[in-house]
Parts: sequence; C-alpha cells; structure tokens
Amino acid sequence: MEFWHQKWSTNQIGFHRPVVNDLLAKHWPTIEANQGTNVLVPLCGKTLDMHWLHDKGHTITGIELVEEAVHQFFDEADATPAIHQEGAHKRFTADDVTILQGDLFTLPTDAVSSDAWYDRAAMVALPSTMRQAYVDQIHSLCAPGSVGLMITFAYPQEQMQGPPFSLPNQEVFTLFEDRFEVTLLETVQLEDEKQRGISELTSSVFKLVRI
Ligand SMILES: C[S@@+](CC[C@H](N)C(=O)[O-])C[C@H]1O[C@@H](n2cnc3c(N)ncnc32)[C@H](O)[C@@H]1O
Repeated sequence: MEFWHQKWSTNQIGFHRPVVNDLLAKHWPTIEANQGTNVLVPLCGKTLDMHWLHDKGHTITGIELVEEAVHQFFDEADATPAIHQEGAHKRFTADDVTILQGDLFTLPTDAVSSDAWYDRAAMVALPSTMRQAYVDQIHSLCAPGSVGLMITFAYPQEQMQGPPFSLPNQEVFTLFEDRFEVTLLETVQLEDEKQRGISELTSSVFKLVRI
C-alpha cells in the first residue's frame, strides 16, 4: 500500500494515460451493459476512461486507495466534489461520478450498487497472491447478471518486475470461470513495450458475466 502512496506523491504514474483506452471504446458495446447503469471501476486512479463511461450515460463508482489521485481526478475535471466519510472510506461525488477513497478489499459490499464493472490495469496491478481475493471482492460487490470488461497484460514475468504483473489468459479462466461466464474478446500484441526489454507483451480483453 505504501508503494502506491509513494507512486502518487512522487508523480511516478506512468500507468496513467492522457487519452481514453481504445480497447474500452471498441469493446464496451459488446458487453451490453444496461443503459444508465452504475459502473464500478476498481483501482481507478484518475483514469479518463471514467469520463468516457459517464459520457455514455453511466453513473460511475471508482475505488481508489490514494486520496491524492482522487483530488487530481476532480481538479483536472474542474469539479468540486461533495465529500463524506463512510467508515474507513471517503466518498467523493460530483456530477454522477463517485470515487470511494480507500482499500478495495475492506469496502463493505453494500457501499456499491453496480451491475457493470470496468478493469483496466487493476487486477494486473496486484501481486498474484491477491488475485483470488480480488475475484472474491468483485463477486461480492456486483449483483448476479453483472457484466464486466477487463483488460489484462501478459509477458514473461522474469523479464520485468511488476506492476503491472503478467496475467496469462489461462489464469483469468481458472480464477473466474466457476462463478463467471468468461469470454476472451481479443488479444493484441503491444510493440512499444519491447523497448523496455520485454520479448513479447500482449494485452487481452475479456467479457465477464457474474453468474
Ligand atoms: C496501475 S494503477 C491503474 C489506475 C487506473 N485503472 C488506470 O487505468 O489508470 C492502479 C491504481 O490502483 C490503486 N490501488 C492499489 N491498491 C489498491 C487497493 N487495495 N484499493 C484501491 N485502490 C488501490 C493505486 O493507487 C493506483 O492508482
């Protein structure tokens, strides 16, 4: 946890993208989230993807550990959120976008009411020992029938220290498939990262339906 506080306080946030994720824009219609439904965005950082989802008519509930990230998100949107303490978490809300600041893993299940979720650089930000707990928490926070879009990375783990950690497609099936319908929508090769000494890096997009 200290790791992420330090990343934000020293502005080492290379994971943050100045544009909306093209795989989100391409595949979001495929998962057929209900019109206007609330979208849970775990480990949201200050991603612009939340604005894109909001522009599509969704309300948003992001979950983010580091308060500095939450302030940056609303400041950069020129929004002044209402702030309420809720137990160990702080709720920031402006214009149908809420970010719950605090640890995803201690969030009470009744704090969120979503039947869709979006994961980009969330599950892959966690070490492999936390993956099962992540799947359990998504399962608890989302109602049966909820649809999710998840974007992962995979590469030879010995060639780079995470995060992002390598999450092979087969492991996604293994972790989710007893409680979710799992569909692999696309796998793309990422060429840019080869400059970092990684021999092969792919990004995969999954549709996940909570059973
Ligand atoms: C790799 S970044 C991705 C952020 C965002 N999804 C994006 O695409 O830009 C992971 C984020 O998760 C946050 N985070 C890490 N552990 C968390 C936890 N246990 N609960 C909530 N947020 C967490 C970090 O502070 C960081 O902003």
